[in-house]
This record gives sequence, C-alpha cells and structure tokens, in this order.
Amino acid sequence: MADLDDIKEGKDFGLDTPARNEPFFLKGSNALDWGMQNRLSRIFNPDSGRTVMLAFDHGYFQGPTTGIERMDLAIPPLIPHADVLMCTRGALRSCISPTSTKPIVLRSSAGQSILTELSNELVAVDIDDAIRLNAAAITAQIYVGAEYEHQSIANVVKLIDTGSRYGIPTLAVTGVGADMARDARYFGLATRIAAEIGAHYVKSYFIEDGFEKVVAGCPVPIVIAGGKKLPEGEALEMAYRAVDQGAAGVDMGRNIFQSDSPVAMIQAVGAVVHRNESPDNALQMYQDLKSDMEG
Ligand code: 5RP
Repeated sequence: MADLDDIKEGKDFGLDTPARNEPFFLKGSNALDWGMQNRLSRIFNPDSGRTVMLAFDHGYFQGPTTGIERMDLAIPPLIPHADVLMCTRGALRSCISPTSTKPIVLRSSAGQSILTELSNELVAVDIDDAIRLNAAAITAQIYVGAEYEHQSIANVVKLIDTGSRYGIPTLAVTGVGADMARDARYFGLATRIAAEIGAHYVKSYFIEDGFEKVVAGCPVPIVIAGGKKLPEGEALEMAYRAVDQGAAGVDMGRNIFQSDSPVAMIQAVGAVVHRNESPDNALQMYQDLKSDMEG
C-alpha cells in the first residue's frame, strides 16, 4: 500500500497558463467523443488535415478486379505509402499482415454483384467483428435516387448507430447508379444526406463544375474516390483540384493499383494530398520513382 505520509503537496499548477482547450482539426467533428476523434486522427493526418486512403474493396461486388487479382501480392508494397487501408474483412484476414498498424476502414456492406442491381445492399459485418478487426471506421454506400435508396440509407444509419456505441466512425460512400447524373446538384444532395444522417465523413466523386459547392454544403469532411483508371497525369490533376477545392483527401483504388507503377503513383498522390505538390511536379515525381524502380 502506498505510504500516505510520503504524499507531497503539489507545487506546479501553472497558474499563469489557461487550461488547454484546442478545437479538433477536422471539419464538423468538434463535438465527437475522444475515441471517435482519436480514430479520425489516425485516418486523417492531423498536420495536413488530409488522408490518402487506399481502396481495394472492389472485389466485394465485382470479383477479381484488374490490378488486385492477387491482393496478397498487389497490396503489401503499397501499405507503407498509404495512410489508410479500405477493404473487406475477407481481404483483411486473408491477405494483410496483422503486423500492419495502418488504420482500417472496413467495408461493411454486401449483398449485390455487378450482375444485379447495385443498390440492393445489406449490412454485412457485425459490429463485434469490426471491433475484433480493430477497425478505425466502418463504411457502406448510400444510393440516393436508386431503386434501393431507402434500404441503402437504412444500412448506413445502422452502421452509424452501432459504431457510435463503441466510438467507431462511419464513412458514407455516395454510390452512383449507372444511369444517374454525376453533377453538383446530385452530389450536393447525396453528401448532405450522408452528413445529416450522422456519417462522420463522406466519400464522393470529383466533378468539374461545382465541386467547391458540394464540399461547402457538406458539414463533415469529403474524400474523393478515384473512379475509373485515367492517365497518371490526369489522376494527379484531379486529386490536386479536389483538395484545392476543399476535399480532405482521396480514397483511391484503380488509379493506384492499375497504374504502370502503383508504388510510384501512391507516393505522387500523397505528395499532392499532403504537400499540395502541383500536378506537374507530382507527375515528374511519379516518372522519376517509376524509372528508379525499373532500375
Ligand atoms: C467501391 C468503392 C471503392 O472503394 C471506390 O470506388 C474507390 O475506388 P476507385 O478509386 O477505384 O473508384 O467504394 O464501391
């Protein structure tokens, strides 16, 4: 038992210094609990306020996608350069070493395939399993305007409610059906709905006209998906314009793992996202790294 006689009177109360009460660095996240903020601080770099998420969850509805046919070969070389890994629990358990300390954003929906209606999803991971996997966040799509809009929003609401019990944030992905408009009005609507139902951050797509307004109308951070494979210079330009107009980073898949040099590409994307590197400099960086690696 501690010796009570030895307790000394406190001396240094810093009476001239007010108690620290710093605002949290992420948009719309000031009122969250410590555990939520701590997990979000692992996802978003507190210095830049941004993130490079590596998305390789595509197989959950489209099978062995080009570039990640073998996730155990394609993903490990990219891990040191990613801030976050976004994947399914199946990919995580089978292909990613548990010695990796990168935060995981866990794909927590399924129930459809490219052969059927994309919006027809269900919550496909129990919160207990997300906790077992040490997920930093959980995620599913809302398909605004699609056939199963209601169900998809209900899925994300369920993730938000169950995740909130344990301090685990939810990323809402704005899924877009094949024949739906991809404009500022649509993404303004979808991202705002995602934030208002309580998503802690939102994934959307960059659009040429009005992206800044989409970001402004969404009270929590937005990250952009990469979308279909573009030439490297165009993908870097898109990332640059997105963060310049207020995106808090990228959640990029095909434009990284389908690149001629995925390891060079993810580093070039990181330079744009975290250091505001210009698209021209980032492309040069990509080319230099690629030729170094080719020897
Ligand atoms: C699939 C997803 C993907 O993770 C997302 O689309 C990012 O990948 P990409 O950059 O290849 O578009 O949410 O539903």
